[in-house]
Amino acid sequence: MRIGYIGLGEIGAPMAMRVLGAGHELTVWNRTNAKAAPFRDAGAVVADSAAAVAERSEVVLLCIDTAAGLEDVLLGSTGITQSVKRPRVVVDSSTMHPEVTRSLGHRLAAEDIGFVDAPVSGGPRGAEQGTLAVFVGGQDDHVALARPALEAFSSRISHLGPLGSGQVAKLCNQMVNFATMAALAEAAATGRAFGLDADALLPAMGSGLADSAMLREYSRGRSAGESTNITGIINALRGLLLGYEDGPAGGRVDILLKDLGAAVDVARVSGSAAPVSGMLEGLYRTLHNAQATQR
Ligand SMILES: NC(=O)c1ccc[n+]([C@@H]2O[C@H](COP(=O)([O-])OP(=O)(O)OC[C@H]3O[C@@H](n4cnc5c(N)ncnc54)[C@H](OP(=O)(O)O)[C@@H]3O)[C@@H](O)[C@H]2O)c1
Repeated sequence: MRIGYIGLGEIGAPMAMRVLGAGHELTVWNRTNAKAAPFRDAGAVVADSAAAVAERSEVVLLCIDTAAGLEDVLLGSTGITQSVKRPRVVVDSSTMHPEVTRSLGHRLAAEDIGFVDAPVSGGPRGAEQGTLAVFVGGQDDHVALARPALEAFSSRISHLGPLGSGQVAKLCNQMVNFATMAALAEAAATGRAFGLDADALLPAMGSGLADSAMLREYSRGRSAGESTNITGIINALRGLLLGYEDGPAGGRVDILLKDLGAAVDVARVSGSAAPVSGMLEGLYRTLHNAQATQR
């Protein structure tokens, strides 16, 4: 298929590489041009705007970190809706508030462009390995058009309902992920304060009911000496709880707060209580502010 990809960031780049590797005809654009260079080398066409990507593509995938950036790429002066020849469907793999998704979907429908939300879970490593979980919302015919592109980087595509449903599922997924990260940081900090070695504690916990994909990925990243979003944020939380740094901090707390804020809001407007996520929002906001104070 002729597929476009816009937003070659931390997770977008490996997803786009998988699309190219699956044999699709790929056109890319990234605001910071240098990030597109490896794609030219690998055989993709590098366009000079989002509109130019749209003109060459039946399906355009996006992965952008903010709602304002997403709106720019879709509706800005060189955005997708400025293309003369329209793509049939735009697939958004960013994690966004479902209301942002629904509103953008209405505006694209007025331009005769289909819209699908397809946020992902599994991180850059999952994207490289083609094992991302994809949570999909949208009309059946639009999702059918998106599926060949999604299959390039996913081991499971879950179509959960109309537009916005994928985002709600991803936010539910994040509620569990962020709670698990906080619990792991608290356990590791407590063990450390008592004098236990985390390299012994984590596998011990993993052999019982505290095991999780998050625990395994944190242990793997630590052992490999890799600085990932997961190791960076759990280490940062441990530092906050202990009062001293204990392992390299990192990760994007701003992106995490975007997701938690949306999760708490969706729960509130839907009439559900989300006391754990509300508490986590306070914890991660404290971490964010502590990091800002240190800078
Ligand atoms: N990283 C992960 O592990 C992960 C996992 C699952 C889901 N996600 C979600 O995926 C999305 C992207 O995350 P990321 O970690 O890949 O972020 P990132 O590395 O910061 O990449 C963001 C991308 O958006 C582009 N962008 C931002 N504003 C723009 C604008 N106004 N016009 C054009 N392009 C713009 C950036 O272009 P520049 O290169 O020019 O800055 C970059 O390509 C987020 O919604 C995040 O929640 C991330």
